[in-house]
Amino acid sequence: MKTITHYVLITGASRGLGKALAVECAKRSMNLILVSLPGENIDYTVEYLKIRYSIDAVGYETDLTIEKNVIDLIGWVNQNYTIDMLINNAGIGGSKEFNSASKGYIDNILLLNIRALVLLTHGLLSNLKRQKNAYILNIASLASFGPFPFKTVYPASKAFVYSFSRGLSAELKGSNVCVSVAHPGGMATNKDVSRRIEKYSGLVKSTILSPEKTAEICIRQLLKKDELIIPGFMNKLSYIALKTCPVWIRLQIFRKSLQKELSLQNQPAYA
Ligand SMILES: NC(=O)c1ccc[n+]([C@@H]2O[C@H](COP(=O)([O-])OP(=O)(O)OC[C@H]3O[C@@H](n4cnc5c(N)ncnc54)[C@H](OP(=O)(O)O)[C@@H]3O)[C@@H](O)[C@H]2O)c1
Repeated sequence: MKTITHYVLITGASRGLGKALAVECAKRSMNLILVSLPGENIDYTVEYLKIRYSIDAVGYETDLTIEKNVIDLIGWVNQNYTIDMLINNAGIGGSKEFNSASKGYIDNILLLNIRALVLLTHGLLSNLKRQKNAYILNIASLASFGPFPFKTVYPASKAFVYSFSRGLSAELKGSNVCVSVAHPGGMATNKDVSRRIEKYSGLVKSTILSPEKTAEICIRQLLKKDELIIPGFMNKLSYIALKTCPVWIRLQIFRKSLQKELSLQNQPAYA
């Protein structure tokens, strides 16, 4: 009988949390389809993981804000690969006064964080459903439990990811596909976030996890079929605080702190 080779598809896999998730899966001997923007050296990561962990891996370069690219990726995967895990990790965001944000900036957040994630899930679900056990992991953020002034679009896009994931999870209950949503707190992944983290107080800094630790927790809990993943003890406390503190109080606190932060920096950064 022919053995079927299964793959895990990860978006945003060339750096940050996506790359850490790829390493975590490779350590568990999972074969990988790593999707990244063009020109991010994904082939280097692919070759490294293949040799280091004796797995099969393949890279695919594309800009997921373009609808045709997402459709092409879905077609290519369904024609050539059997996947039993989809990790929608690619996501962008930042702090910006809404009025001064460009249409392109807003569009890119919506197209990547929402449309690409939903279309990929929709286009690859039949492939996942054909496997004995399959998993979808959507990467949201603690910012999902906003709202946050001077960020507005990013937390709203991540609130969508939360709502979409929990709804789909309930819809697929009893099927072979498990859907989890992860809400990481701050991680020093890119230059903007790292610079922001440097300015945090000791208490806020204590909530920061490495992308590697976050990835390890996410994959472990995903395989346990936990629907809601909040990596790290301090982030769990932040989650409880966000859920219990009245919105009007939170908005007052965040308005002051984020306005101050924005005045200190011009560059975008994650929550
Ligand atoms: N860093 C944080 O503090 C933090 C906190 C909470 C949640 N998150 C979430 O965690 C996820 C990963 O964040 P990160 O900080 O590791 O990322 P990052 O270092 O800021 O990089 C952004 C990721 O999105 C991908 N990406 C950006 N534009 C894209 C496009 N047009 N098409 C396809 N992919 C695109 C990039 O892909 P490639 O570079 O691979 O090409 C990269 O992996 C995101 O969903 C983010 O919202 C991050």
